Amino acid sequence: MTQLYTTLASVYHEMYQHVFDYDKEFSFYDSILKKNNCKKILEVGCGSGMLARRFLKNGYDYLGLDLSREMLDIARSEINSDSFIQCDMRSLSFDQQFDSVLITGRSIAYLTENLDIIITLSGVHNSLKDNGLLVFDLFEANGIFDNFNDFEQNIEHNNKKIRRISKLKKNLKTGWTYDWYAKYIIEDDGNVSEFEDLTTLRAFTKDEIQLFLKLTDFKLKEIIDAGKAFTIIAEKI
Ligand SMILES: C[S@@+](CC[C@H](N)C(=O)[O-])C[C@H]1O[C@@H](n2cnc3c(N)ncnc32)[C@H](O)[C@@H]1O
Repeated sequence: MTQLYTTLASVYHEMYQHVFDYDKEFSFYDSILKKNNCKKILEVGCGSGMLARRFLKNGYDYLGLDLSREMLDIARSEINSDSFIQCDMRSLSFDQQFDSVLITGRSIAYLTENLDIIITLSGVHNSLKDNGLLVFDLFEANGIFDNFNDFEQNIEHNNKKIRRISKLKKNLKTGWTYDWYAKYIIEDDGNVSEFEDLTTLRAFTKDEIQLFLKLTDFKLKEIIDAGKAFTIIAEKI
């Protein structure tokens, strides 16, 4: 697993509060869930629990799931809730429990093999009640590959300076995959530390994700575009 969710989990937690707008994300999911009368939810790839705290505060019957122990440690310590489990999304084993399963923060990008996607969506299917709702966001392949540029981010969090230099390389071995090399330079109270991280991510075309949904017995309800990403809303059939 990428270092970003293990040795660098606390860096992720601090950094992404300035990368993602979690209030906006919560409102987005909240309106979809309310519209579909979903109260009992599973968040897959819940990370350090930035959405979890908002779901719990707003009365959802919530369970968060993530592969990374370090990310869950942060979620548990900050939220003081036992609503989290460590599990690989490829081995979900709930039985028709949830009104909705959300896979958030483009976590599905870490599944680079077709079979892993099929196994995960089938596990989600088994975990949902009849007509249950699957909501997940993905990187959009055209958006990513049309504008395939290195980038740099500079973030300040409580006097800590986090600089990330990202370099992208086309991989294309198992779909619209690309290698993301990231160098982190962290300045904290005069001390500077550096880390390097390499991971492979997968983007999807809208056509191919619709085929994955068809193969795992989901009916597409809506696709919502968001720049280089999009969100899928689908119903269990
Ligand atoms: C970009 S983070 C998103 C975290 C959180 N949703 C957020 O918005 O901050 C991706 C998350 O997916 C998790 N993840 C990656 N592969 C996974 C897998 N196979 N099963 C479960 N979680 C996984 C990582 O540990 C990480 O917490």
